[in-house]
Amino acid sequence: MTFNPILAPYPAGRPRRLRQSPWIRDLVAENRLHVSDLIWPIFVHDQDKARDAIGSLQGVDRLSIAEAVKEAREAKALGINVIALFPHLNEKIRTSDAKAAIDPDGLIVQTCRAIKAAVPDIGLLVDIALDPYTDHGHDGLLDDDGRIANDATVEMLVQQSLTLTAGGADILAPSDMMDGRIGAIRNALEAAGHQDTMIMSYAAKYASAFYGPYRDAIGVKALKGDKKTYQMDSANTEEALREVAIDISEGADMVMVKPGLPYLDIVQRVSETFKVPTFVYQVSGEYAMIKAAVEKGYMDHDRGVMETLLAFKRAGASGILTYFAKHVAELLKA
Ligand code: PBG
Repeated sequence: MTFNPILAPYPAGRPRRLRQSPWIRDLVAENRLHVSDLIWPIFVHDQDKARDAIGSLQGVDRLSIAEAVKEAREAKALGINVIALFPHLNEKIRTSDAKAAIDPDGLIVQTCRAIKAAVPDIGLLVDIALDPYTDHGHDGLLDDDGRIANDATVEMLVQQSLTLTAGGADILAPSDMMDGRIGAIRNALEAAGHQDTMIMSYAAKYASAFYGPYRDAIGVKALKGDKKTYQMDSANTEEALREVAIDISEGADMVMVKPGLPYLDIVQRVSETFKVPTFVYQVSGEYAMIKAAVEKGYMDHDRGVMETLLAFKRAGASGILTYFAKHVAELLKA
């Protein structure tokens, strides 16, 4: 009903009634952030130092395996269910054939084993892609002409998946955007008796300027060219829906949209259309942007962070990968 000043000298509805105090706002809140919505990405390195600060990701360090175990224990105590692991490897280990990605004693395999032994009930999500292992920083192998070799890459991703699964990873998260990788990985898992291994595919992953600090974090120096022949064009929506449909049909259990805030519309479309658990990655550049604004005094840190995370929930996300996870878990506990 609209307010008619002639019929009634007062508004027919007063939405502000339900905003007058914290308790009533809380009672009528349509969306809530819970600690179990959070997945915490951490970086592990193969250096002697326990921790090494990442310049572009204020407050985020690369960790030794022992330190990662400590963080996993703390995360679990705070109620975080899943940790996502990313490696930073010594430059000498990176090669054009990315063979370190399938090393049965590789850094991430060792990290999985150590965390599983110490904190058995935390979920371990691992990135399936070759960029931390290639000397050129691309997610796939290159052919003689410098182009991404899709099918040869998929074969490596399959081996990487089996290697990490054997090491104790619970959720494989292919972030490479090669065609056909989900089906190939799923078939290989089934054939090897790993029918319970979960796949969260980075199904709608866009070629984005917001990945800069991440590349710094994993030590990719000068990426030759860009990732636009495999990651999606930010102009497209329908293509994201096709990508998600393909990955689900090939055996993905959960899907992800990435980056987060600039692609909220995609999160909403995907979650509404497919009704499968839909995750969103608040990527490194989004994190860095908030930190920079806070540093300048333009924004309150915790309010800004919470507002972005609630936006993901509003858009229909089942969960959020965010570098703020541990801090937010502490805030939610307080
Ligand atoms: C690549 C990968 C990327 C991220 C996760 N996995 C970057 C890229 O595609 O270049 C980005 C994460 C972030 O920016 O926080 N395998």
